[in-house]
Order: sequence, then structure tokens, then C-alpha cells
Amino acid sequence: MSGDDNAGRTVAPPLRLWGGRFAAGPAQALAALSVSVHFDWRLAPYDLAGSRAHARVLHGAGLLDADELRQMLDALDRIAADVASGAQLPGPDDEDVHTALERGLIRAHTVIAAAGTAADLQQPLVLEDALLERLGPLGGKLRAGRSRNDQVATDFRLYLRDAARSLVRRLSELQTALLDQAEAMADAPTAGFTHLQHAQPVSFGHELAKHAHALARDVDRFRDWDHRAAFCPLGAGALAGSSLPLDPFAVAAELGFRGPVANSIDAVADRDFAAEFLFVATLAGVHLSRLGEEVCLWVSREFGWAVLDDAYSTGSSIMPQKKNPDVAELARGKAGRLIGHLAGLLATLKGLPFAYNRDLQEDKEPVFDAIDTLEVLLPAVTGMTATLTFDRARMAAAAPDGFALATDVAEWLVRQGVLFRDAHEVAGAAVRWCEEHGTRLEDLTDDDLQAVSPLLGPGVRAVLSVQGALQARSAFGGTAPERVREQVAALRTVVAGGADWGATS
Ligand code: ARG
Repeated sequence: MSGDDNAGRTVAPPLRLWGGRFAAGPAQALAALSVSVHFDWRLAPYDLAGSRAHARVLHGAGLLDADELRQMLDALDRIAADVASGAQLPGPDDEDVHTALERGLIRAHTVIAAAGTAADLQQPLVLEDALLERLGPLGGKLRAGRSRNDQVATDFRLYLRDAARSLVRRLSELQTALLDQAEAMADAPTAGFTHLQHAQPVSFGHELAKHAHALARDVDRFRDWDHRAAFCPLGAGALAGSSLPLDPFAVAAELGFRGPVANSIDAVADRDFAAEFLFVATLAGVHLSRLGEEVCLWVSREFGWAVLDDAYSTGSSIMPQKKNPDVAELARGKAGRLIGHLAGLLATLKGLPFAYNRDLQEDKEPVFDAIDTLEVLLPAVTGMTATLTFDRARMAAAAPDGFALATDVAEWLVRQGVLFRDAHEVAGAAVRWCEEHGTRLEDLTDDDLQAVSPLLGPGVRAVLSVQGALQARSAFGGTAPERVREQVAALRTVVAGGADWGATS
């Protein structure tokens, strides 16, 4: 039924992809609950790509003649262009992206301008294309042999495969910023911590590079995820496959998948690909939170190791002197949101019977929000990292602090043939001696050393320097500046490989 809206304009009846067996339309409360087009509209380009592939398969099956196929593909291309330009938007009565796009195919020239609600969905649909108008009922032919169940699973996989590449590109940029800084700071000694207590001197470049390594594993996980996610659900129909002679291999190949999903029930019920993607994204978010926390410490007055660029810090509305690390704090804070999404999605999936259940519509918002979150967070963290400046002198002063060279004393003794258990005792006694006398290990005189233990000959002085401590840790993976530079160079090759993958389609 058509009707008039408040302004007297003709309002087209809503299109539903179901309804034949219902005498009455859905209650407003149901429609309001089940609508998803406000968030699944972002799948539109992928739905259209799936439709193009499906149209070709229908043609291959003899269900669309050549002329119909041409008209269909033309119409889909025009809609894709209108979606991209924003000329086609979902209408207020469209339940989901699939419905909205099919309406676009069937009823091209409808202007829906209902007043009152859902302001952003109320732009008139302007599908000026006469071709589409002519397409009319032919648009409906596209539905043969597919269901929104296999459609939505396909759209979502296609969307996430692109999103993974985009996130990998952004992760690569952050890794590069970290590695540039790491290289510049490879020979800068600083205090390394365990339990947030001074432990041993390390190269600050080593500290920075460790974050790039964590992100490299995230990139690797996205690539690995993609390998598993690259199977196409189209052809599964609602759950059982189709009695029409469709070709799932052809659809899969056209859409860039490695092949079709091997079980039609699994194809529509499985959301491992969404949960796994979300885990990978969340772990990346957790890595950003750890970097964020360290930046907060480094720029604190107590540490004073780093200074934020003005462009990446904020002021206080009351305290004029403040320069706050908001980017780093948001990096820390956003991780909580991602963890919540992951836990929520897993809870949605838990105990769901096969095959499709409407619960599965809850799969998209958490994942979309995780992607949106990382898409805004990563450039900010990259900019903050690239523009950080460091105070080498303060770092160097902190490096031996807290008797951080005690391990070097113990290991020197081991090299003199002392059992490590005894060496540990002697080095500990030296620390106690320093505490009692208010001095530092590196300031002990020969007599002091002898007073602590006859095992501590003057030779130990050779290892009581921060540079010496760094240089000595020269095995693979160690903090010696030379090893750090090699490590950075090797990781740059890995990052370049990730960036190349991110640029593939
Ligand atoms: N909007 C739905 C979703 O995201 C599409 C699939 C609807 N299927 C159905 N049988 N109602 O899951």
C-alpha cells in the first residue's frame, strides 16, 4: 500500500524480502528492534560485488539471459556508483543493507521522505537512472538461489578482508615510526625495569623496538587470519545450499576467495572469522595500550625521558602549565573498549544452535567499532611516536640507578670461576655495602671492594659502566647497540612485507 506522508507526498510502501505468508506487516516495535541498516550500510559495496558475482552465476545456470545479465550488471554498477557518491542511501523503512539495495534495483525512482524519525536515513533516494527504472521486476530475479544468510556472511568476510589490509597499513606506519626512533636511540642507555623497579641498563632503542615486534606479530596474525577467512559462503542459501545449478567455485573466484565454504550450514552459521578478527584487533589494541602506558611514564616529570610534541599533547582547562599525554592515555583506554567487544561477541556466539539465528546480527557492531577505533587511534599514536623527543642525559643518568649493575658484578665473578650462587651473594653484599654507605657500585674504591669480598678484585671495575653493560649483552636478541641496529634493520624488512600485503586487494 502506498500512502501520503504528513507533507502530502506519496510514500512508497516499504520493501520487504519476506512477507508472503503474513497477513499483516510487522509491528513498529519489531521493525525498530530488528533494523540493522544504520550499521550494516557500510557493507553495501560488498553486497553489490556479491550481487554482480551472483548475477553471473545465474547467467551461467541459464536463469538470466545475456541481455538480462547485461542490464543487471549495468544497474548494479550504477547503484555502486550512487552508493559511493552518497546519492543512494537507505530509506527509513529498509530493514537492512540487502533490502535497501534490492529496493534500489527494483524501484529506482522512489523518493522516500517521511518526516519525523531517523534523520540521517531520511534523505530522498535519488536514483535518477532510467535504466534502473526499466529494470523493474528483473531486479527481483537476483534473489534466486541466495538468502540474506549467505549474503551477509559473504559481505562481512569481504569487508573484513579489506579492513584487515587497511589496519595492517596503519600498523606498518606505526612500526616504521617506532623503528626510526629505535635506530636513533640504539646507543642511548637507560634504565630497564622489571616490576617497575630498576633492573638492568638497556638501550632505549631496544625498548622502542620491542613495541614494533609486538605489532609485527599483529600484522602476521591479520595475514594468517586472512588465509582462513578467504572462503566464500555464497551458494549456501539459507542453510542447505541451492537446488539451482549454481557454481559456488565461480562465485568464490570472482570475489577473490580461495574457494567456497565446504559445508553450507557452517557457511551461514560460522562467525569464527569475525571473532578471530576481533581478537587480533583487540590484541593490537592491547599492544597500543602498553605503548601508551610507557609513554605516560616517559613523559612524566618523575622520569623526564621524553617530551611530547605540542601537536600530540593537550592542556588543562584550569592548570596553565599542564601538557598532558592524552593520545597515550586514549591508547590505554580504548583497549578496554575492544576487550569488551571481544567478550561480548564471544558471549553472543556461545551456545548458539546451528544454523543462522538472528542473534548473529549482533556480530557486526562490535567488530565495526573495533575497526573504527583502531582507524582513528593508530594515526594518532603514530604521530605521537614519530614526534617524541628524548632526553638522553636523563636516561643515561637513570641507567645505573638502583644498583642496576649488580648483575654485571655477579656475572664478572662467574667469569672468574665463582659459582653463580656465591657470585649472587657477593654482588648482593656489595649492594648492601653501598646502601649502608650511601654510595653507588660504580663509585666503590678498590679498598671498598676488598672490604665487601676478597673475590672483588679491581678487574671488576671494567664491568661497572653502563656502556660496558650494554656492550656485553651482544648475543642475538640482546641490548648491545650493534645488535639493536641489526634487529631494527631485520624488522624493517618484515614491516615492508606487511605493508606490501596491506596494499593488496
Ligand atoms: N541483517 C541480518 C544479519 O545481519 C541479515 C540476515 C537476515 N537473515 C534472516 N534470516 N533474517 O544477520
